[in-house]
Amino acid sequence: MIKRFLSSTATVPETTQVPRHIAIIMDGNGRWAKKRLMPRVAGHAQGVERVRDVVEACIRRGVGYLTLFAFSSENWRRPQDEVSRLMELFVMALEREVERMADNGVRLKVVGDLSRFEPRLRELITQGEARTAANTRLTVTVCANYGGRWDILNAMNAWRREHPDATEIGEAELAPYLSMAYAPEPDLFIRTGGEQRVSNFLLWQLAYSELYFTDTLWPDFDAKALDQAITSYRKRERRFGRTSEQLLER
Ligand code: IPE
Ligand code: IPE
Ligand code: MG
Repeated sequence: MIKRFLSSTATVPETTQVPRHIAIIMDGNGRWAKKRLMPRVAGHAQGVERVRDVVEACIRRGVGYLTLFAFSSENWRRPQDEVSRLMELFVMALEREVERMADNGVRLKVVGDLSRFEPRLRELITQGEARTAANTRLTVTVCANYGGRWDILNAMNAWRREHPDATEIGEAELAPYLSMAYAPEPDLFIRTGGEQRVSNFLLWQLAYSELYFTDTLWPDFDAKALDQAITSYRKRERRFGRTSEQLLER
């Protein structure tokens, strides 16, 4: 049985020096390329390189879960050419990186509505997940054709199918049906690229995550930038509705 994590808002999780789970909106690829008079897709290609660096930095720092927003359910609205190039990059990244992940003890998961992807991409996802399924060092989740609202509705519909006669559902009943039920909720949320919004990322799971926004564009985000985010996280007091005094009593 997969271990299901209940909402972190119910109990105060152990505060660790390094976040157990970091979730990142990797934004700013297009602007990075534009500044260099390059096509937007060059920024996406550079962004893939940073994914490799950040995965390795997370392994070295003992982060347990890294979740990356790669393609949102809204990104289909981009020009057809950019969408196609993004899909090609995804295929290439899976072809190239899965072996390295497997060797590094990384477990790969891809979440989102994968039904809209080409068969070749879906096949690589299935193979990559299977190849790395037994790894435990770091779980890397790639959110692809993912939307937070989709996730909640998908969970709700799955629950209803299994409980046709039930009328009400509670948080604890819904949580196991969400696409990231295998992971604790993110401790630290990072968005690069300067925008300060959630853009339909993990809406349910971010309820009590610490938020960190940086102007650094994703293709410039390196291990040092990750450490700055972790340093900021360490200074936070996570109260989950309680008072500072109550936290001291624990
Ligand atoms: C994020 O970079 C990557 C994806 C959404 C796939 P953008 O492509 O959104 O970069 P900007 O925001 O235009 O700079
Ligand atoms: C969010 O970035 C999605 C990903 C990083 C994959 P966008 O650049 O698409 O976000 P908005 O639409 O500007 O908020
Ligand atoms: Mg953007």
